[in-house]
Amino acid sequence: MREEAIGAELLAWYDANARVLPWRVPPGSDAMADPYRVWMSEIMLQQTTVAAVKAYFERFTTLWPTVTDLAAAEDSAVMGEWAGLGYYARARNLLKCARVVVADHGGAFPDTEEGLLTLPGIGPYTAAAIASIAFNRPAPVMDGNIERVMSRLFCVEEPLPTSKPTLKVHATRLTPTHRPGDHAQALMDLGATICTPKSPACGICPLMSACAARKAGIAAELPRKLPKKTKPTRFGYVYFARRADGALLLETRPDKGLLGGMLALPTSEWNDAPTEAPPLATHWHDPGAEVRHTFTHFHLRMALRVADVSQDATPERGEFVPRAQFSPSTLPTVFRKAFDLGRGVTIDADLAKG
Ligand code: ADE
Repeated sequence: MREEAIGAELLAWYDANARVLPWRVPPGSDAMADPYRVWMSEIMLQQTTVAAVKAYFERFTTLWPTVTDLAAAEDSAVMGEWAGLGYYARARNLLKCARVVVADHGGAFPDTEEGLLTLPGIGPYTAAAIASIAFNRPAPVMDGNIERVMSRLFCVEEPLPTSKPTLKVHATRLTPTHRPGDHAQALMDLGATICTPKSPACGICPLMSACAARKAGIAAELPRKLPKKTKPTRFGYVYFARRADGALLLETRPDKGLLGGMLALPTSEWNDAPTEAPPLATHWHDPGAEVRHTFTHFHLRMALRVADVSQDATPERGEFVPRAQFSPSTLPTVFRKAFDLGRGVTIDADLAKG
């Protein structure tokens, strides 16, 4: 089947089956998508599922309906609302980008891939997605779903990630000049609902007769992947210090690095053999509990330390935040786990003399 015919089948399928998503304009609608909402959704959807993103997207666009509103927001408010979504550099770049769009572009997102690429947090994937979905430019959008669809449709047996350039060539040829944004979203939906990683529903696929991997009987085996490196495990300590009035010792992590700019419980360094690094001189109780969390590149295991401290205790790092000024939902997941564990620990009164 020719590229044009494949594209037409795909769009006809999308017209009837497009997922209804809060950032999306229904197919065939005359309305243009709002570039701000498209940008926000694409940043949130990087490495994150549609299901996880929906509520965050609704909350962010309710709190900050325009890029100007977001640019004027407090850093801590934005970081706090992002808590739980992960990959926190995205949130820092979100704010940076909003401020650049307002300061340097009069509040309007650039409408080309090249222009979008100059903005903080926007790489090739996001630039292509925004250019095609918000501005109807024929930019091939390459994400994991679309790579899988291309591998199968054109039966590319070379493994990922080596096959990426080949897959992009196929995707480029397939991208139409008419409705390229709907074409990209159709491929995303096909990958998410039919051309799924494990058991693709080839029997109901609109591209069934065009699919070379299906013909070869290996659709479910593609894309092949080079073996992944195993993740190392790092260790550390996390410190939960509370006062009788409920205030909790918290710190904001340095802007650079993992969980940068996020609210956190104090920790030691994370490595093979960490040394204790308590943020406050007191008696630290060892409840024998461990916080486990997996990041992109490593597993983390932190031993919990808990202290009940007096009202005048002065920390070497961080500060005591009154219970009323702090919501656990503003903590990244790893510290939310530590908080939930620490909160459940009761220390024998004889030991609690900070
Ligand atoms: N994944 C990444 N971008 C998406 C979008 N615009 N719609 C659905 N899924 C997506």
